[in-house]
Amino acid sequence: SSCPALPEGFDFTDPDVNARRVPLPEFALLRRSAPVSWIPQPHGLAGFDDDGYWAVTRHADVKEASTRPEDFSSARNTSVIRFHPGMRRERIDAQRLMMLNMDPPEHTRVRRIVQRGFTPRAVRALESALRERAGRIVAAAREHGSGDFVTDIACELPLQAIAELIGVPQHDRAKIFDWSNRMIAYDDPELALTEETGSRSAMELIAYAMDLAAARAAHPARDIVSRLVAAEDEGSLGSDEFGFFVLMLAVAGNETTRNAISHGMHAFLTHPEQWELYKRERPATTAEEIVRWATPVISFQRTATHDTELGGTAIREGRRVGLFYASANHDPEVFDAPEAFDITRDPNPHLGFGGGGPHFCLGRSLAALEIDLIFAAVADTLPGIRLAGAPRRLRSAWLNGIKELRVSYE
Ligand code: HEM
Repeated sequence: SSCPALPEGFDFTDPDVNARRVPLPEFALLRRSAPVSWIPQPHGLAGFDDDGYWAVTRHADVKEASTRPEDFSSARNTSVIRFHPGMRRERIDAQRLMMLNMDPPEHTRVRRIVQRGFTPRAVRALESALRERAGRIVAAAREHGSGDFVTDIACELPLQAIAELIGVPQHDRAKIFDWSNRMIAYDDPELALTEETGSRSAMELIAYAMDLAAARAAHPARDIVSRLVAAEDEGSLGSDEFGFFVLMLAVAGNETTRNAISHGMHAFLTHPEQWELYKRERPATTAEEIVRWATPVISFQRTATHDTELGGTAIREGRRVGLFYASANHDPEVFDAPEAFDITRDPNPHLGFGGGGPHFCLGRSLAALEIDLIFAAVADTLPGIRLAGAPRRLRSAWLNGIKELRVSYE
């Protein structure tokens, strides 16, 4: 039962589709006509031996699937919809060791431990260091007069936040930033990085993090790593587990936040009345609307663990189910004028951080803090920032990314 309303061969996870625009009109079509729709992928995909997936497009259904991990597994297939062709087996296996790709009870155990690093108190403890960073990043950009907002401003703070969080010493940061960026970039054909480079960077990052964990396990300090790896009653992470946790942070917390910041800037520059409002009032609702508007993670996927149903549609065991957060965040059943960028939107029950189940974004308050700090610094230091060209979009199966955003800082 493929959906006749979509153009023949249309696939929401096609990087060429997402490189042009997030397919909002196509999502709207499905939300109205067939909210859980079979999308054929007749040629198969590297890493999957099936021939399509179910696209879930309504807010209510995305939420429901997210909260039924016993029916919709994160472990059967990794969460990311489309592997890079030629992706190596080791890399797919490495993905499985990240909590994003685990089910309860393994997931529950790891989540309970790492949660300690993300309590409101732990996030607040990073605030003053990150505010200072944000100020410095923006001040340095101003010196250039004009440039690319993505590389000048959006890239840096998310990496600094993760480094701060796990206590990476200053002199090691350039190294871990380089590995993180290479892992991300290997997906990008323009950079022509090979699978080899991507895997090697991931392995080097894991090895670095394992060393960090081993050092803290031997000599605990008063930092997060020590609290995660030092033996405690509730259990702790092994240094290998910690390595994969850091790998996941470098992926989950880095490019997502970078794209939220870049899209947020682009939204402000194309909605000048919102930028004026922001500079005047700095509404506390701003960061959540930026995440809804941008929806940096277009989708993650699950796999049906047995024959089941979702939103009245029967789903066979083993079938992949794509949870389209980007579609949920434009569902008119939930959002008034979903097409409007409105930084005072309240309430804003968006699913940009996931549908609220066990995998609900661990870093959401950190991400919101980073967004707040960057835009506060931009508003203070670069109030007249202007667009100087059309953004260049990322080619990706699942990320809504901006690669380049030319601006004038004066
Ligand atoms: C999970 C989005 C920032 C760490 C997720 C999920 C989404 C998401 C959609 C999956 C939720 C699900 O499957 O139900 C985002 C967005 C961000 C962001 C849009 C930025 C605007 C961050 C940051 C960190 C982080 C800054 C940490 C430094 C994680 C982790 C998970 C996760 C560890 C996996 C949690 C689990 O499996 O239990 N995020 N994220 N994220 N995110 Fe974020």
